[in-house]
Amino acid sequence: MARSRVRQVIAGLDVGTTKICCVIADWSPVGNLDIVGVGTSPSRGLRKGVVVNIDSTVESIKHAVAEAEEMAGVEIGSVIAGVAGGHIRGINSRGVVAVSGKHREVSQADIDRALDAARAVNLPQDREIIHVLPQTFLVDDQDGVKEPLGMSGVRLEVEVHLVTGATTSVRNVVRSVNRAGLQVQDLVLEPLASAEAVISTEEKELGILLIDLGGGTTDVALFRDGAVWHTGSLPLGGDHISNDIAVGLRTPTADAEELKKRHGCALTALVREDEVVDVPSVGGRKARQLSRQILSEIIQPRVEEIFTLVARDLVRAGLNDVAAGSWPSRCSTCRCVAGCPPGSPGSPTWCRAPFTRPRWDWPSTGRAVTAAESE
Ligand SMILES: Nc1ncnc2c1ncn2[C@@H]1O[C@H](COP(=O)(O)OP(=O)(O)OP(=O)(O)O)[C@@H](O)[C@H]1O
Ligand SMILES: [Mg+2]
Repeated sequence: MARSRVRQVIAGLDVGTTKICCVIADWSPVGNLDIVGVGTSPSRGLRKGVVVNIDSTVESIKHAVAEAEEMAGVEIGSVIAGVAGGHIRGINSRGVVAVSGKHREVSQADIDRALDAARAVNLPQDREIIHVLPQTFLVDDQDGVKEPLGMSGVRLEVEVHLVTGATTSVRNVVRSVNRAGLQVQDLVLEPLASAEAVISTEEKELGILLIDLGGGTTDVALFRDGAVWHTGSLPLGGDHISNDIAVGLRTPTADAEELKKRHGCALTALVREDEVVDVPSVGGRKARQLSRQILSEIIQPRVEEIFTLVARDLVRAGLNDVAAGSWPSRCSTCRCVAGCPPGSPGSPTWCRAPFTRPRWDWPSTGRAVTAAESE
């Protein structure tokens, strides 16, 4: 393979429960990123978003990175690695400092000190801060300041969202990457990376909830006024749906996964009564034909449970308005309005439902309903 180290590339690594992905991007002449290499590998060393087997994780990372390097024709030395999992906690905090710059003009040093003050929260010893994300600044009595640099005032206050994680879980991601022969240039909370890919600046300003429904976790990030106000990760995901299907229909897990992807629907009311699917059996017995509605009746309660837990998490964080469905939200995978879970009909019309006319919304019970039901 012809490799060169002269190109300025940047690489991202998603260490997920079901798959590990590596993306390599090149800086284009106009300053954009062009994706030049992609590699994926099934993930075997994680459970619910957390590394539980370093050796298997290292192997998967090496495989995904090698594939991406091969496609890009470059060798990478470092990656920006994603972190997620049930150990992630987001908290809001604030810091206040006196403006010390010349002529009482807010300097970068003042901003840095205010951010340092905001991160001084009482954290248990086994947790560490992953991100300090400024939400808004106050200069004296002026609130809603986005860029305080150069403003005049005597008091600078900042509100921030702190993302924290269990030190051991974070270190195990870093260790796995290091053992795969790479440096960790930076860590990023996975739903924030997903948000960069699928949410526009306008949506972040208006307010939007991102739900990244993965294999072992469901990650959440709430944006409001252009800033992050809540992050969380639930230890439940699409793999639980597949397991439910495997147990409920007594079919091998790999077949359950395939059934979910090909025929699954998260809302039984949308499935016609006469639709049938072939369900492979275990123990060498013959495949059976079952109503597709039965498949959907297994998927729907699990998806409802996941969304109900997301809503509860928001309520616990004091975000009752969001949990009650005051805002529309989008699924990070297909950009549909959230409520299109894995296993939904998957038709283009379903997934591309116009943002202004959500197919689903959140009633206060947290149960997902269709627009038709809610009208
Ligand atoms: N077309 C599809 N329909 C339904 N479900 C799907 C489809 N494609 C993938 N999935 C499900 O999505 C899940 C994998 O999602 P993803 O690749 O985002 O997870 P991950 O990043 O590896 O895991 P995690 O983020 O939980 O650590 C699996 O449960 C898989 O079955
Ligand atoms: Mg993921």
